[in-house]
Amino acid sequence: MSETQAPHASLSGEPLMTVQQHILQEQKKFPGASGEFSWLLSGITLATKLIQAKVQRAGLSNILGEHGEINIQGETQQKLDVYSNEVLGHALSVRETIGVLASEENEHPMLVHQGSENAKYAIVFDPLDGSSNIDVNVSVGTTFSILRRPEGASLDDPEAWVLQPGRQQIAAGYVVYGSSTILVYSVGNGVHGFTLDPSIGAYVLSHPDMKMPEQGKYYSVNEGYSASFPPRYQQYIDRLKQGVLGHPYSSRYIGSMVADFHRTLLKGGIFLYPPTTDNPNGKLRLLYEANPVAFLAEQAGGVAIDGTRRVLDIQPESIHQRVPLVVGSRKELADFERFVPTSG
Ligand code: AHG
Ligand code: MN
Ligand code: MN
Repeated sequence: MSETQAPHASLSGEPLMTVQQHILQEQKKFPGASGEFSWLLSGITLATKLIQAKVQRAGLSNILGEHGEINIQGETQQKLDVYSNEVLGHALSVRETIGVLASEENEHPMLVHQGSENAKYAIVFDPLDGSSNIDVNVSVGTTFSILRRPEGASLDDPEAWVLQPGRQQIAAGYVVYGSSTILVYSVGNGVHGFTLDPSIGAYVLSHPDMKMPEQGKYYSVNEGYSASFPPRYQQYIDRLKQGVLGHPYSSRYIGSMVADFHRTLLKGGIFLYPPTTDNPNGKLRLLYEANPVAFLAEQAGGVAIDGTRRVLDIQPESIHQRVPLVVGSRKELADFERFVPTSG
């Protein structure tokens, strides 16, 4: 048995698989892959451990509250948004295979390792998702999407590296900083979840080969805006409440997409961020919110659309582009597509 296959005994005597071991094992299934991909992902795991440490001590360390700047989205940056963005930027920019980093918090994608022909990957991320929940001790998260440098893409044009449809993601994932910290990722070979064991500082496999239930009990949407949803969305939500799909649905809405999606992945059901009057294209960003979630949903047997189209087939035009999102279990999504055939 090689070092990467050998189960390491945990304190309880159960076999223990860390995310690092898992990545190395997954990588072997792809001929030609080398250790570089696991080195790259280790930048993300390291950064998210630092972010979770800050989130956990947030009330004690003067890190709560607003930073005083408005980001490119026109939204108020929280101190933790800024910290998380810096930590990810630092951890990833020392990985020499990464050529481009793009973040929700930066207007333009950043070229790193300028001039290096070894730079093969672009990483797009939302450093802290659910900022409005930070101050009230509710789950927040980090999302990421990894793309290969397109054939012939020039080092002078970092946008070209990231403006790729989501189906071209070679890996995607997220971390939820919740009652425990969990990392969920896929390299297109199933979805796997790892819980951070604080006693050893390692992400340990806790949810192998995750599958979204065919149907769930919950719908998840900000109903405060329902008067400005396209009417068919409202009618669809009423349909769920009325029990047309076999039972009346319960409502759950956290207001951190990553946490709402994590519940949907585990329990099934449907999450929607529809177009509204204020946000005619919805609020969520295609590249670093909808795409990673859509990739994971499909890998787990679920479905993700923008109301009509498969999210992963959308050709992005700009890095902060927004998109309506409807994601969840097959049964709810099949019914949505039948019942809301032409909504935009
Ligand atoms: P972010 O904190 O990265 O800007 O994202 C917030 C997003 C997303 O997490 C969540 O689903 C949505 O905002 C909630 O928006 P509403 O308050 O409009 O429901
Ligand atoms: Mn977000
Ligand atoms: Mn964010």
